[in-house]
Amino acid sequence: MRYALIADIHANLPALRAVIDDIRERWGAIAVYHLGDLVGYAPWPNETVALLEELGIPGVAGNSDSTVATDYKHCGCKYEDPRQEELSHVSYAWTREHVTPATRRYLAALPFRVDLRPRGGHVAGPAVMLVHGAPTLNTLYWTEDRSDEFCLQMAQRVGAKAGDVIAFGHTHKPWHRVVGGIHFVNAGSVGRPKDGDWRASYAAVDTTGAPAVEMVRVEYDVDAAMAGIRSAGLPGDFAEHLRTGGRA
Ligand SMILES: [Fe+2]
Repeated sequence: MRYALIADIHANLPALRAVIDDIRERWGAIAVYHLGDLVGYAPWPNETVALLEELGIPGVAGNSDSTVATDYKHCGCKYEDPRQEELSHVSYAWTREHVTPATRRYLAALPFRVDLRPRGGHVAGPAVMLVHGAPTLNTLYWTEDRSDEFCLQMAQRVGAKAGDVIAFGHTHKPWHRVVGGIHFVNAGSVGRPKDGDWRASYAAVDTTGAPAVEMVRVEYDVDAAMAGIRSAGLPGDFAEHLRTGGRA
Protein backbone atom coordinates (compact mmCIF):
# COMPACT_ATOMS: atom_id res chain seq x y z
CA MET A 1 0.00 0.00 0.00
CA ARG A 2 1.26 3.45 -0.86
CA TYR A 3 0.18 6.77 0.53
CA ALA A 4 0.77 10.36 -0.55
CA LEU A 5 0.64 12.67 2.48
CA ILE A 6 0.02 16.36 1.93
CA ALA A 7 0.30 18.84 4.81
CA ASP A 8 -0.18 22.56 5.39
CA ILE A 9 -1.86 23.55 2.14
CA HIS A 10 -2.85 26.89 3.70
CA ALA A 11 -5.38 27.88 1.05
CA ASN A 12 -2.76 27.90 -1.72
CA LEU A 13 -4.88 26.47 -4.54
CA PRO A 14 -2.23 26.66 -7.32
CA ALA A 15 0.18 24.66 -5.12
CA LEU A 16 -2.47 22.08 -4.22
CA ARG A 17 -3.43 21.59 -7.88
CA ALA A 18 0.22 21.08 -8.89
CA VAL A 19 0.75 18.55 -6.09
CA ILE A 20 -2.38 16.58 -7.03
CA ASP A 21 -1.20 16.47 -10.66
CA ASP A 22 2.29 15.36 -9.60
CA ILE A 23 0.90 12.61 -7.35
CA ARG A 24 -1.25 11.27 -10.21
CA GLU A 25 1.61 11.35 -12.73
CA ARG A 26 4.29 9.98 -10.44
CA TRP A 27 2.41 7.38 -8.42
CA GLY A 28 -0.81 6.60 -10.26
CA ALA A 29 -3.22 4.80 -7.92
CA ILE A 30 -2.14 5.89 -4.47
CA ALA A 31 -4.20 6.79 -1.41
CA VAL A 32 -3.96 10.50 -0.62
CA TYR A 33 -4.46 11.93 2.87
CA HIS A 34 -4.00 15.47 4.13
CA LEU A 35 -2.37 16.34 7.44
CA GLY A 36 -4.30 19.53 8.17
CA ASP A 37 -3.95 23.32 7.98
CA LEU A 38 -6.11 23.63 4.90
CA VAL A 39 -6.73 27.36 5.44
CA GLY A 40 -4.90 30.57 6.40
CA TYR A 41 -2.39 32.91 4.68
CA ALA A 42 -3.71 32.61 1.11
CA PRO A 43 -7.04 33.57 -0.49
CA TRP A 44 -8.56 30.20 -1.47
CA PRO A 45 -9.80 28.49 1.73
CA ASN A 46 -13.21 27.58 0.28
CA GLU A 47 -11.78 26.39 -3.05
CA THR A 48 -9.16 24.28 -1.24
CA VAL A 49 -11.78 22.55 0.88
CA ALA A 50 -14.07 22.10 -2.14
CA LEU A 51 -11.29 20.44 -4.16
CA LEU A 52 -10.35 18.06 -1.33
CA GLU A 53 -14.03 17.21 -0.90
CA GLU A 54 -14.49 16.69 -4.65
CA LEU A 55 -11.44 14.40 -4.81
CA GLY A 56 -12.43 12.57 -1.63
CA ILE A 57 -9.15 13.29 0.15
CA PRO A 58 -9.61 12.70 3.90
CA GLY A 59 -7.34 13.96 6.64
CA VAL A 60 -6.93 15.52 10.07
CA ALA A 61 -7.54 18.94 11.63
CA GLY A 62 -4.63 21.37 11.76
CA ASN A 63 -4.57 24.21 14.27
CA SER A 64 -5.63 26.67 11.56
CA ASP A 65 -8.66 24.46 10.83
CA SER A 66 -9.73 23.74 14.39
CA THR A 67 -9.33 27.35 15.58
CA VAL A 68 -11.39 28.73 12.68
CA ALA A 69 -14.01 26.02 13.24
CA THR A 70 -14.32 26.73 16.97
CA ASP A 71 -13.97 30.55 16.81
CA TYR A 72 -10.89 30.40 19.01
CA LYS A 73 -9.19 33.67 19.96
CA HIS A 74 -6.18 33.11 17.68
CA CYS A 75 -4.82 30.54 15.21
CA GLY A 76 -2.62 28.72 17.74
CA CYS A 77 0.51 29.65 15.77
CA LYS A 78 3.91 30.43 17.24
CA TYR A 79 5.47 33.84 16.55
CA GLU A 80 9.13 34.64 16.35
CA ASP A 81 8.64 38.42 16.50
CA PRO A 82 5.84 41.02 16.93
CA ARG A 83 5.55 41.55 13.16
CA GLN A 84 4.92 37.83 12.62
CA GLU A 85 2.31 37.90 15.37
CA GLU A 86 0.55 40.86 13.76
CA LEU A 87 0.59 39.15 10.36
CA SER A 88 -0.83 35.91 11.70
CA HIS A 89 -3.69 37.86 13.30
CA VAL A 90 -4.38 39.54 9.93
CA SER A 91 -4.43 36.13 8.21
CA TYR A 92 -6.67 34.62 10.86
CA ALA A 93 -9.17 37.50 10.76
CA TRP A 94 -9.26 37.41 6.93
CA THR A 95 -9.84 33.66 6.89
CA ARG A 96 -12.60 33.77 9.51
CA GLU A 97 -14.33 36.49 7.56
CA HIS A 98 -14.13 34.67 4.22
CA VAL A 99 -14.85 30.99 4.99
CA THR A 100 -18.36 29.93 4.06
CA PRO A 101 -20.58 28.11 6.57
CA ALA A 102 -20.02 24.92 4.52
CA THR A 103 -16.22 25.28 4.77
CA ARG A 104 -16.47 25.91 8.50
CA ARG A 105 -18.60 22.78 8.94
CA TYR A 106 -16.09 20.74 6.94
CA LEU A 107 -13.20 22.00 9.10
CA ALA A 108 -15.16 21.32 12.30
CA ALA A 109 -15.77 17.70 11.25
CA LEU A 110 -12.09 16.87 10.64
CA PRO A 111 -10.76 14.24 13.09
CA PHE A 112 -7.75 14.96 15.31
CA ARG A 113 -6.00 11.76 14.27
CA VAL A 114 -6.41 9.08 11.61
CA ASP A 115 -4.94 5.57 11.90
CA LEU A 116 -4.36 3.47 8.80
CA ARG A 117 -3.69 -0.25 8.68
CA PRO A 118 -2.25 -0.96 5.21
CA ARG A 119 -2.64 -4.70 5.65
CA GLY A 120 -6.07 -4.48 7.24
CA GLY A 121 -7.11 -4.27 10.88
CA HIS A 122 -7.55 -8.07 11.05
CA VAL A 123 -3.77 -8.65 11.27
CA ALA A 124 -1.25 -7.02 13.60
CA GLY A 125 0.56 -3.97 12.18
CA PRO A 126 1.99 -2.07 10.60
CA ALA A 127 0.14 1.16 11.33
CA VAL A 128 0.41 4.58 9.75
CA MET A 129 -0.79 7.27 12.12
CA LEU A 130 -1.63 10.75 10.92
CA VAL A 131 -1.75 13.90 13.07
CA HIS A 132 -1.12 17.57 12.32
CA GLY A 133 1.42 18.69 14.95
CA ALA A 134 1.88 15.86 17.42
CA PRO A 135 -0.28 13.18 19.09
CA THR A 136 -0.84 15.50 22.09
CA LEU A 137 -1.82 18.82 20.43
CA ASN A 138 -2.09 20.06 16.86
CA THR A 139 -0.19 23.20 17.91
CA LEU A 140 2.99 21.42 19.02
CA TYR A 141 5.98 21.99 16.72
CA TRP A 142 7.74 18.65 16.14
CA THR A 143 11.00 19.85 14.64
CA GLU A 144 13.80 17.63 13.35
CA ASP A 145 16.06 18.52 16.29
CA ARG A 146 13.71 17.01 18.89
CA SER A 147 15.39 14.31 20.96
CA ASP A 148 14.96 10.58 20.39
CA GLU A 149 13.26 10.48 23.81
CA PHE A 150 10.69 13.03 22.68
CA CYS A 151 9.93 11.00 19.54
CA LEU A 152 9.53 7.79 21.56
CA GLN A 153 7.29 9.57 24.10
CA MET A 154 5.03 10.71 21.27
CA ALA A 155 5.05 7.18 19.81
CA GLN A 156 4.00 5.82 23.17
CA ARG A 157 0.98 8.15 23.22
CA VAL A 158 -0.41 6.43 20.13
CA GLY A 159 0.87 2.92 20.87
CA ALA A 160 3.26 2.94 17.90
CA LYS A 161 5.89 0.22 17.67
CA ALA A 162 8.81 -0.70 15.37
CA GLY A 163 7.70 -0.81 11.74
CA ASP A 164 4.94 1.80 12.25
CA VAL A 165 4.87 5.27 10.76
CA ILE A 166 3.78 8.50 12.46
CA ALA A 167 3.25 11.32 9.96
CA PHE A 168 2.56 14.99 10.64
CA GLY A 169 3.32 18.52 9.40
CA HIS A 170 2.84 21.90 11.12
CA THR A 171 6.50 23.05 11.07
CA HIS A 172 6.49 23.50 7.25
CA LYS A 173 9.95 21.88 7.09
CA PRO A 174 10.10 18.29 5.78
CA TRP A 175 12.14 15.60 7.53
CA HIS A 176 12.23 11.85 8.09
CA ARG A 177 13.87 10.01 10.99
CA VAL A 178 13.80 6.45 12.29
CA VAL A 179 13.95 6.03 16.07
CA GLY A 180 13.49 2.63 17.66
CA GLY A 181 12.36 1.25 14.28
CA ILE A 182 9.49 3.77 14.16
CA HIS A 183 9.40 6.12 11.18
CA PHE A 184 8.73 9.77 11.97
CA VAL A 185 7.74 11.70 8.86
CA ASN A 186 7.18 15.43 8.62
CA ALA A 187 5.65 15.96 5.18
CA GLY A 188 6.63 19.64 5.00
CA SER A 189 4.14 22.10 3.50
CA VAL A 190 2.27 22.16 0.19
CA GLY A 191 1.31 25.81 0.29
CA ARG A 192 3.75 27.66 2.55
CA PRO A 193 7.18 25.98 2.91
CA LYS A 194 9.56 27.52 5.44
CA ASP A 195 12.79 25.67 4.60
CA GLY A 196 14.02 28.15 1.99
CA ASP A 197 12.75 26.05 -0.95
CA TRP A 198 9.66 27.66 -2.54
CA ARG A 199 8.46 24.40 -4.15
CA ALA A 200 5.48 22.55 -2.68
CA SER A 201 6.42 19.58 -0.48
CA TYR A 202 4.75 16.24 0.18
CA ALA A 203 5.72 12.75 1.37
CA ALA A 204 5.13 9.37 -0.28
CA VAL A 205 5.09 6.37 2.07
CA ASP A 206 5.28 2.79 0.79
CA THR A 207 4.36 0.13 3.33
CA THR A 208 4.66 -2.86 0.99
CA GLY A 209 7.74 -4.02 2.89
CA ALA A 210 9.61 -2.10 5.57
CA PRO A 211 8.32 1.49 5.33
CA ALA A 212 10.01 3.46 2.54
CA VAL A 213 9.60 7.22 2.63
CA GLU A 214 10.24 9.62 -0.22
CA MET A 215 10.11 13.40 0.08
CA VAL A 216 8.94 15.11 -3.09
CA ARG A 217 9.13 18.77 -4.17
CA VAL A 218 6.88 20.18 -6.87
CA GLU A 219 7.14 23.42 -8.82
CA TYR A 220 3.88 25.35 -9.16
CA ASP A 221 2.62 28.68 -10.44
CA VAL A 222 3.89 30.74 -7.51
CA ASP A 223 3.25 33.99 -9.44
CA ALA A 224 -0.47 33.15 -9.55
CA ALA A 225 -0.47 32.47 -5.81
CA MET A 226 1.36 35.74 -5.12
CA ALA A 227 -1.02 37.71 -7.36
CA GLY A 228 -4.02 36.10 -5.61
CA ILE A 229 -2.69 37.09 -2.20
CA ARG A 230 -2.16 40.70 -3.28
CA SER A 231 -5.49 41.10 -5.03
CA ALA A 232 -7.33 39.68 -2.00
CA GLY A 233 -5.83 42.47 0.12
CA LEU A 234 -3.75 40.07 2.22
CA PRO A 235 -0.30 41.34 3.33
CA GLY A 236 2.40 41.37 0.63
CA ASP A 237 4.65 39.60 3.16
CA PHE A 238 2.63 36.42 2.53
CA ALA A 239 3.43 36.62 -1.19
CA GLU A 240 7.14 37.22 -0.51
CA HIS A 241 7.14 34.27 1.88
CA LEU A 242 5.96 32.00 -0.94
CA ARG A 243 8.55 33.28 -3.40
CA THR A 244 11.43 32.73 -0.98
CA GLY A 245 10.28 29.60 0.83
CA GLY A 246 9.99 31.51 4.09
CA ARG A 247 13.29 33.34 3.86
CA ALA A 248 11.64 36.74 3.33
FE1 LIG B 1 0.61 25.23 9.06
